This record gives sequence, C-alpha cells and structure tokens, in this order.
Amino acid sequence: MKKVITFGTFDVCHVGHIRLLARAKAQGDHLTVGVSSDQLNLDKKGRNPIYSLDNRIEIIQALRCVDAVFVEESLQRKSEYIRSHGADVLVMGDDWQGKFDHLANLCKVIYLPRTPSVSTTEIIEIIREVK
Ligand code: CTP
Repeated sequence: MKKVITFGTFDVCHVGHIRLLARAKAQGDHLTVGVSSDQLNLDKKGRNPIYSLDNRIEIIQALRCVDAVFVEESLQRKSEYIRSHGADVLVMGDDWQGKFDHLANLCKVIYLPRTPSVSTTEIIEIIREVK
C-alpha cells in the first residue's frame, strides 16, 4: 500500500482544500493529513484560526479521501511525521515549492498547483467587508 501524507491548517474549509486533498489521495492508496495546531497557524500566518482545532480535525476526518488525521505541532518535525506515519509520498501545495526538497531522502516529494482564486485569507477578508 502506497501511503501519502500532507499538511495544512484547513481553516474555513473551501474547495481549494478539498481538491488538494483529493489530488493528494490520488498519488497513492492511503492519505494521512497533519492539521496545524492553533499555535503553528499563529506562527505561520500571524492569526488564530477561525475554526477550532477540534472542528478543523472533524471536518477533514469526515472527507471520503482522508484515511487518518493527526495534529501537526511544528514545521520542523516533518521528517519525524513522515517516518512515524510510514509515508511514501509527501504532497504539498505549490505555495511551498522547493521548501521540503531536503526530505526527498525519506520519501517522494510532490508539489501540486493550488486552485486559483480561493483562499482562507480571502474568504475572511470578504466576510469582514460585508456590512
Ligand atoms: N490549497 C490549494 N488551493 C488553494 C488554497 C489552498 O491547493 N486555493 C492547499 C494549500 O496549498 C495547502 C492546503 O490546501 O496544501 C492547505 O492550505 P491552507 O494554508 O490551510 O489554506 P489557504 O487557503 O492557503 O489558507 P491561507 O489563505 O490562510 O494561507
């Protein structure tokens, strides 16, 4: 069985997230998703997620293409997560292009193109502007 792993915050779940996860699953037979902790999201994006960690996990776990979910506490622990989950393939969106090439000694590293014109940040901004 070929095991795929991917990571993200997946806050305010949108179609870009769903497509990324479906395409990640298509790279193998089993998909594990590392969902960023609130602290990691704060470090990465400078804001707290809108949805709680528990809710983000519940949403991602409910998707047909997702087989397992865990909490990603630190970007620096990717190699440990790849090993402990027995991943053969690491999939990242191409906003991370080149950033995880050093992990190619552990597993295949693939960057998939992002879905254009949608992001959590943009959705939050649009909602904020609605009066
Ligand atoms: N993603 C994607 N297409 C989009 C948005 C996100 O393929 N339009 C992918 C990212 O590349 C990443 C995963 O979905 O692999 C989780 O991304 P995340 O950072 O949680 O979502 P964003 O919408 O990019 O969030 P933000 O706007 O807060 O950066």
